[in-house]
Amino acid sequence: MANPNFGRQLLALWHLAPDATFLNHGSFGACPREVLAAQGALREEMERSPDQFFRKRIMPGGDNAVRQSAEALATFVGTQSDRIAFAENATSAVSAVLMSRSLEPGDEILLLDHAYNAVRLATHHVCRKSGAVPHTVELPIPIRSDDIVARLESAVEPRTRLAVLDHITSPTALVLPIAEMVRVLHAKGVAVLVDGAHGVGQVPLSLDDLGADWYTSNAHKWLYAPKGTAFLYAGAESTAGREAPSQINGGSAAGRGAPSQLAGGSAAGLLPLAISHYNHLGFPQAFDYVGTRDVTSWLSLPAALDFVSRHGADRIMAYNYTIAREGAALLERLGAVPVGPDAMAAAMRALILPQRREAQPADGQDLMRTLWEHHRIQVASSVFQARLLIRVSGQIYLEHDDFERLADALARDGWPGR
Ligand SMILES: Cc1ncc(COP(=O)(O)O)c(C=O)c1O
Repeated sequence: MANPNFGRQLLALWHLAPDATFLNHGSFGACPREVLAAQGALREEMERSPDQFFRKRIMPGGDNAVRQSAEALATFVGTQSDRIAFAENATSAVSAVLMSRSLEPGDEILLLDHAYNAVRLATHHVCRKSGAVPHTVELPIPIRSDDIVARLESAVEPRTRLAVLDHITSPTALVLPIAEMVRVLHAKGVAVLVDGAHGVGQVPLSLDDLGADWYTSNAHKWLYAPKGTAFLYAGAESTAGREAPSQINGGSAAGRGAPSQLAGGSAAGLLPLAISHYNHLGFPQAFDYVGTRDVTSWLSLPAALDFVSRHGADRIMAYNYTIAREGAALLERLGAVPVGPDAMAAAMRALILPQRREAQPADGQDLMRTLWEHHRIQVASSVFQARLLIRVSGQIYLEHDDFERLADALARDGWPGR
């Protein structure tokens, strides 16, 4: 590999089982030992003196340890800290945005058929409650990169209020042309919530330049943060500003006290899912303390960023891209077909596994189980658009051999329906 500093010798920096081949960093991430140690120290501090910890460091108005983490993250993702709130995961951040919008019967929300299932369900839920209508835009695979934006644009109707779009899709691992998508939708007056669950750490982010109304990402996936570390960005000015500060999700609490720091734009009316003491502060502080919970994962973000900066964000991204591409090439030799072109890939690759019969709903789970139980190889696999997909992730603790092990196992044992 191009970078001799990366590869299996780094596996010891993680708790990952050394006898297994972990090719699925994408689903849940994996947190390095040193970041977990930093979190452990914070947990000890919390347990030594709970009152001091929560009242002085976490609740708004104290040392603002959460805000300090937001500062560190904001620099990394190209914005300022008052546009960043933390959340446990992308799932809850997406729901917080959706529940904070005021939708009318007949309004439309666009989403892609590649959307993550929990995000699709949340979108359908708010539609059912408000009488709005979900409109799914299909992007058939193998994908043609030149018609994605046009398909989206032609789906916009006069009542389209919001689009919920993936930056990097989950089953298909495609990096979508998100800047162009945002631009086209904004030109038509449609607000955009980007589900960038896989974005931070996998691809460079410059959120203010991107200009989406909201962007959420999981730092626990590709930024090496402990589980439960996601963020929600709200843009400064946006299409979303057309809507009145919101009414839903405890928005009435906003009337109790000081206004939000970011009174307008996409932050207007944006509140966490649970109503709590600080809703009156608005975005982002309302998210900082939502009842008693363990936020040491958020406070460990500077340790994760330090890990990234010592290994080099650019070098990590380049290695992950290359090793995943080489791994995918091995699978192509078995007849697997890439879901999209190289230009739409980053650290993950998804491929269509040819089958002699129609893909069955259980095929993805069956493939994952067999590879794990027989070979101790972890991949992601799902059935999408009636095709069986396999998704592999590059990461700096992996080497070419790891992907060869997968290719050998598939060549020997096949896959469901082969
Ligand atoms: C595109 C996408 N959105 C949302 C999520 C949800 O992430 P979480 O489980 O951390 O909420 C995932 C998880 O893999 C994802 O791939």
